[in-house]
Amino acid sequence: MPDFANHPLPRELVQSESRHSHAAGAPPALVPVTLTVNGKEMKLSLDVRTTLLDALREHLRLTGTKKGCDHGQCGACTVHVNGRRVNACLSLAAAHEGDRITTIEGLGCPARLHPMQQAFVEHDGYQCGYCTAGQIMSGVALLGEPCGPADADVREAMSGNICRCGAYRNIVAAIQDVRRR
Ligand code: FES
Ligand code: FES
Repeated sequence: MPDFANHPLPRELVQSESRHSHAAGAPPALVPVTLTVNGKEMKLSLDVRTTLLDALREHLRLTGTKKGCDHGQCGACTVHVNGRRVNACLSLAAAHEGDRITTIEGLGCPARLHPMQQAFVEHDGYQCGYCTAGQIMSGVALLGEPCGPADADVREAMSGNICRCGAYRNIVAAIQDVRRR
């Protein structure tokens, strides 16, 4: 118990200081979270601060979803939540209790690629591949979004997905190919 009478700081600050030092040494609070990931129910026990991205990569070992900026600026971490694209680095896993999450692993497999994956292969829609999972997840989500027919419309709709290799022309070609089909 702090000695309030002889402490140089006001009582309120001492109490706050004491609370924080206790919190710093305490183990993180864990919460149960159930997610349906790629069609399978997953029960996790997570630090409340765990992002959806870290839950997928670090806890479920689904490393197809990439961490680029970790600040919502690059789109490498794009997944689908209940069918809509989301930056998984900006979203807390605990906020998705009961939600349906789809990652690149749930889209297709090497023996049976999703049409968008196939189109990326056919149009060389990648170079290093680091942004590619996010690009494909965004491209698939875009198919169900209002988007004009022009390449410029696709570029605008995909503007949240950055490609450091500059494969933009081929990415747009791949998405337009799937849209035409
Ligand atoms: Fe999420 Fe860059 S890692 S937007
Ligand atoms: Fe390298 Fe896009 S293919 S960052």
